[in-house]
Amino acid sequence: MIPAGAAVEINTNSVMQPLMIRLEQIAGIKESCKVNIAVLDYVGENLKSGISTEEINKMVHEKTLQLGGIPAPLNYNGFPKSVCTSINSQVCHGIPSEEDILVEGDIINVDVSTIYNGYFSDSSRMYMIGEVSEEKQKLVQVAKECLEKGLEQVKPWGFLGDMGQAVNDHAKKNGYTIVREIGGHGVGVEFHEEPWVSYVSRKGKEMLLVPGMIFTIEPMVNMGTNEIFIDESDDWTVYTADGAPSAQWEIMVLVTEEGYEVLCY
Ligand code: MF3
Ligand code: CO
Repeated sequence: MIPAGAAVEINTNSVMQPLMIRLEQIAGIKESCKVNIAVLDYVGENLKSGISTEEINKMVHEKTLQLGGIPAPLNYNGFPKSVCTSINSQVCHGIPSEEDILVEGDIINVDVSTIYNGYFSDSSRMYMIGEVSEEKQKLVQVAKECLEKGLEQVKPWGFLGDMGQAVNDHAKKNGYTIVREIGGHGVGVEFHEEPWVSYVSRKGKEMLLVPGMIFTIEPMVNMGTNEIFIDESDDWTVYTADGAPSAQWEIMVLVTEEGYEVLCY
């Protein structure tokens, strides 16, 4: 027996040690997320028609450095810029360019990833430029709802497929499709960790969710076909096969003892 208030030493041979390491990692990842969120906020405040996606790249690059972070996409597997910018029928991984000028009616995904004190964060938002067609507005809205429907399914001792099915069901209900070939990922200590996260998976399938896991929910929702292709000229930009618009929001979620915590939105 130990009197209340007595100093207790932590047994470093026990499971406490890996748990403490994970708690320290989670604290570091949360700090990285704060930077990622601030960068996305900054982009949101400065986006307007007439600017190029290269200008978004500059904003992200400079803001990230100013906040003490490093843009994770830069030189990642040869990616040449500090952020991914994907307009209209571009599904993801668009490369910022001086030639791509935002015009009224565009929808754009800005996907920001940060390394801060060695920890990774990754989230993306959709922005609408000026007056956007109702069709596109609905796509952007439903893509966000898909993510939230998926999020509601995240709980300890549930399955990753519970989340995936909820995302897919909501897209289908609205007449949209979900990209199958590109998914989310674990994130935090590395940019991309296990598990690979599908949004066309089935309830009760895929990885068991355990407190302490962190992964992204980032379904790509297409107005038309779910088929995609990669631009051969840059080997990065993913487009819808039919040229119809695509929308994507990305968040980072931590599985907790009670349910979940959103780290980056
Ligand atoms: N944020 C993207 C993701 O979810 C990053 C893609 S890698 C890059 O994984 F090099 F294109 F940035
Ligand atoms: Co990601």
